[in-house]
Amino acid sequence: MTATEILPPDLPSGRAKLVLTGFSGSGKTTVGREVAGRLRLPFIDLDEVVADRAGLSVEQIFESLGEGGFRALERAALTDAAKLSGCVVATGGGAVTDSDRFRQLAAGAVVVVLDCDRAETQRRLLGSHPRPLLEPERARTISSLMREREAAYAAAGPLVSTTGRSVAEVAAEVEARYRAAVPPGPAEVRVTDGPSSYPVLIGPSAVAKLGEAVAREIGEVQRAVVIADALVAGTAGQATATALRAGGLQVVALQVPAGEAAKRIQVVARLWEQLSALGADRHDLIVAVGGGAALDAIGFAAATFARGLPLVNVATTLLAMADAAIGGKVAIDHSGTKNSVGAFHQPRLVVADPEFLATLPVGILRQGLAEVLKAAVLGSPLTLHLIKQSVGASSRQDWSWLVEQAVRIKAAYVAVDPGDLGARQALNLGHTFAHGLESASDYALSHGEAVAVGLLAAAKLGANLGLSPTGLALELQELARGLELPQDPPSGLDPVRVLQAMAGDKKRRAGRAVFVVPRRDGGALLVEGLELAWAVRFLWPDGEPAAGAGS
Ligand SMILES: NC(=O)c1ccc[n+]([C@@H]2O[C@H](COP(=O)([O-])OP(=O)(O)OC[C@H]3O[C@@H](n4cnc5c(N)ncnc54)[C@H](O)[C@@H]3O)[C@@H](O)[C@H]2O)c1
Repeated sequence: MTATEILPPDLPSGRAKLVLTGFSGSGKTTVGREVAGRLRLPFIDLDEVVADRAGLSVEQIFESLGEGGFRALERAALTDAAKLSGCVVATGGGAVTDSDRFRQLAAGAVVVVLDCDRAETQRRLLGSHPRPLLEPERARTISSLMREREAAYAAAGPLVSTTGRSVAEVAAEVEARYRAAVPPGPAEVRVTDGPSSYPVLIGPSAVAKLGEAVAREIGEVQRAVVIADALVAGTAGQATATALRAGGLQVVALQVPAGEAAKRIQVVARLWEQLSALGADRHDLIVAVGGGAALDAIGFAAATFARGLPLVNVATTLLAMADAAIGGKVAIDHSGTKNSVGAFHQPRLVVADPEFLATLPVGILRQGLAEVLKAAVLGSPLTLHLIKQSVGASSRQDWSWLVEQAVRIKAAYVAVDPGDLGARQALNLGHTFAHGLESASDYALSHGEAVAVGLLAAAKLGANLGLSPTGLALELQELARGLELPQDPPSGLDPVRVLQAMAGDKKRRAGRAVFVVPRRDGGALLVEGLELAWAVRFLWPDGEPAAGAGS
C-alpha cells in the first residue's frame, strides 16, 4: 500500500470576518452574537469551540489539563478560525497574547477590541461564574492581567468602549464599523486558473449584479445566449436575462431538457445547430443556467462550438453552487458511462444566488449538502462545527455562507492543480466508494447520497489505516443523521455488484484503484494498492454484508 499526502492549500479570501477580542467580561460573546444577528452572519465563540472539542467546560479543561492544555486547544481553534470567511468570531480573552495565531486570524478581517474600564470589569467579573485564570484572588489578578495585556489589545485593533453602555449600543457601533469596512452586496471569491482568474459572486440577489459583472470581467460582449435547464428557464433563466438586459446586452434565450437528460450528445448537437443558426461567434457569451447537469452539458457545447465561446455559469442547485459551476470540468454521458466525453473550459464568471434554492426539492438540496460536507472535511473543520450547530436539510435558510466556504475550498484545489492531475484529486474524497454505489444501484442512488455514504466509508477506512482522525467517522455519521443523509448503502444493494463496479472503475483508470481518505490536519491522502474486497467492507457498519464478495 502507498499513501500520498495532499496538504490543504491556502484558501482564497471571501467576505471579511469580524473578529471581536478583549478582556474577560468585556462582552465578546454577548455582543458578538448580537452583531452576528444584525449582520446575518454566523457566529463562532472560540471558547465554546475549545470546550466542545474537549467535551469539557473551560473550567474543567483548566482543572484537568492546566493552562498549557487550554492554550494548546485554543491555538488549534485560532488556526481553524483563520480559515473561515464571512463570520463573526469571538476569541478568548488571552488569544491576543498568541501573537502569531492572532495575526493569522486578523489577516484581512475587521478587528474590534471591546474595552471596559478596570472598575466596571471588576464589578462584572467578581460575581460571575468560576474563571480559572482569575482565581484565587480575582480582584488582584484582574488588575495585573489587564495591565499585562493592555499593549496587546491596543495593537490588535480599534477599541470600542463598553463601559456603562448597553449590549445594543455597543453592537450598533461594532456593526457600523464592519459595514463601513466591508462593501454591501454579494461575497466574491476568486478562482485562479493558471494565469487567469474569475470571480464567483455569492449571495441573495447576486444575479442582479450580472450585467455589471460581465462588463467588468469580460468587457466587449454584444449578445448573451442564455441557455437554461427547462425547469428553471421561467425563473432563474428569466432573472438572468433581465439582469443582462439591464446591463445593456442583447439576450437570446434557449433551453435544454431538465436534469441529467441534458447530458446527451443529441442535446449538445441541437445546441450547436441553434448557435450556428444564430451566427454565434466568440463575441457572443454563453450563459448557462441550471444545476450541475445543465452546466456540464451547456459548458461542453460552449467549449466545443467555434473552438470555445466565453462561458458564464449561473448555478441553481446547491451542488452546482458549491461544486459543479467552478473548476472548468464540462462533460456529457456517453455509451452508458457518466461524464465519459468532456473538456476543460473555465467559466469567466460564476453566480451563486441562493434565492434560486427556494424552489429546489429538499432531496436535491440534501445531495448538495453531501458535497459541502466533503469540502469542509478537506479544508475547514470549523465549517463542520457550524453545520452541526445550525443546519437542517429541511430548513429554508440562507445558504450563502456555506456555499462561500465550499467555493473557497474547491477554488483552492483548482488553483494549485487546474489540470486535475495532482492535488485536485483530493476533491474525490469518498468518491471511489460513491461511484461503486451509484453504478451498482443503476443510478437509483443519487450522486449526493452516494457521496454521503462514501465519505463516511473513507473516514472509517482512513482511521483503520491509521491515517485519518479517529473521531471523524462518528462526527460525520452524526452530521449525516442530522442532515437526513444516508449513512449506509440501501439495504437491497448487492455488495458483489458494488465490488464489480469499483473493479470496473479501476480498469478504466489504468488499473489504479485510488481511495481518497481524510488527512489528520485537513487535506487528504491518496491510498493505492488496497485489496478492493477488503476496502469495500467499510461501506457497511461492522464490515457487513460484504462477506461473499470474494477477492
Ligand atoms: N463539472 C463538475 O465539476 C461537476 C461536479 C459535480 C457534479 N457534476 C455533475 O452535476 C450533475 C448533478 O448536478 P445537480 O445535483 O445540480 O443535479 P441536476 O442538475 O440534475 O438538477 C437536479 C434537478 O433539479 C432541477 N433543478 C435545478 N435547479 C432547480 C431549482 N432552482 N429549483 C427546482 N428545481 C431545480 C433540475 O431540473 C433537475 O431536475 C451530475 O451530472 C454530475 O455529474 C459536475
